[in-house]
Amino acid sequence: MKKSVRDIDVKGKRTLVRVDFNVPLSGGRVVDDTRIRAALATIEYLRDNGARVILISHLGRPEGGPDDSLRMDPVAARLSELLGEKVMKLDDCVGAAVEERLAELPAGGVALLENSRFHAGEKQNDADFAAALARLADIFVNDAFGTAHRAHASTAGVAAYLPAVAGFLVENELRQLSRLLDDPEHPFVTVLGGVKVSDKIGVIDRFLDVVDAILIGGAMCFGFLKAQGIDIGASKVEEEAVGTAAAALEKAADSSCRLLLPTDLIAAAGFSPNADNKAVTVDRIPRGWMGLDIGPLTASTYVDEIEKAKTVFWNGPMGAFEMKPFEMGTRAIAEAMASASALTVSGGGDTVAALNQFGLGGRLDHVSTGGGAAMEFLEGRELPGIAALLDA
Ligand code: 3PG
Repeated sequence: MKKSVRDIDVKGKRTLVRVDFNVPLSGGRVVDDTRIRAALATIEYLRDNGARVILISHLGRPEGGPDDSLRMDPVAARLSELLGEKVMKLDDCVGAAVEERLAELPAGGVALLENSRFHAGEKQNDADFAAALARLADIFVNDAFGTAHRAHASTAGVAAYLPAVAGFLVENELRQLSRLLDDPEHPFVTVLGGVKVSDKIGVIDRFLDVVDAILIGGAMCFGFLKAQGIDIGASKVEEEAVGTAAAALEKAADSSCRLLLPTDLIAAAGFSPNADNKAVTVDRIPRGWMGLDIGPLTASTYVDEIEKAKTVFWNGPMGAFEMKPFEMGTRAIAEAMASASALTVSGGGDTVAALNQFGLGGRLDHVSTGGGAAMEFLEGRELPGIAALLDA
């Protein structure tokens, strides 16, 4: 257990709050503000308790310095709307000019620093950069669960210089995700999709010992099908996926966990919503075609598994759901999760986008704001952004 904002006196204090405002932008506007709204509880608590709130986040992956398309201004605009009060937006995150402006921030006021990744020291977890950040505040609060798996200056390094505690979002994520690991109710079913087997292999490995069934879909299924000697046509497959999948299949054979693969697919002549497409069994992908979704038989098998489960975790879409002809499998899983009586938990950028596309985000027990962070937590790995906080 880590200390939280509740365990520390914040009145009048300058609090540097690491948030994960790495949100999708389009045309200079925030298109999905889920992560901003998820941080409001901590921000409001700090304001109500008289703290000066200094927010810091990264946005995207700028390389080699400031990038105007990744400035935090659209985020500041959306946050101001949500708070009903203008947020002080700064054009940098360290230095004398920033310190001077922050000196004007009143108790209860909110400021947002510029994208932390405009400084190379952020990702290098550079001690001087972390110390420069620490100069801005009396207390550090980490509420960036989505970035907690990164050992960066604003997530971990700065905690060496200030009393460091968790925000409510981090606390809630840890509590909710722990429910999957601490004595979950069985049957426990995990649905995994998306492109990269390599990103999921840690979780597959751990979950083979924990869950009753792993249902595989999305592009990652082609690594498994190919490992079984099936001709996957022009389907997308990661280079090292086949070996990784073969190892997982071998481990699954020795475990009591069932690892289910698609038996049918929606195959298409090309990666386009207008391409010819049809449902085929997995060993009948027409020459030159690719699988872009799980098929109806597979979807129905997976839905049955979810309906019978007491605990379900889902990460990764079943197909190219952003194209209407290939959304069926992902929609079926999302709808089954939404109406399941089981404890339902989901996470990951694409999965959350799919749930929102189908209007089902609010129907699960927990939708994590973390993708990689949630997966690493469930693998049992220590998250550097959490490890750096004070123990309760
Ligand atoms: C995320 O969106 O997963 C987090 O904000 C971390 O971003 P990153 O993968 O660029 O470190």
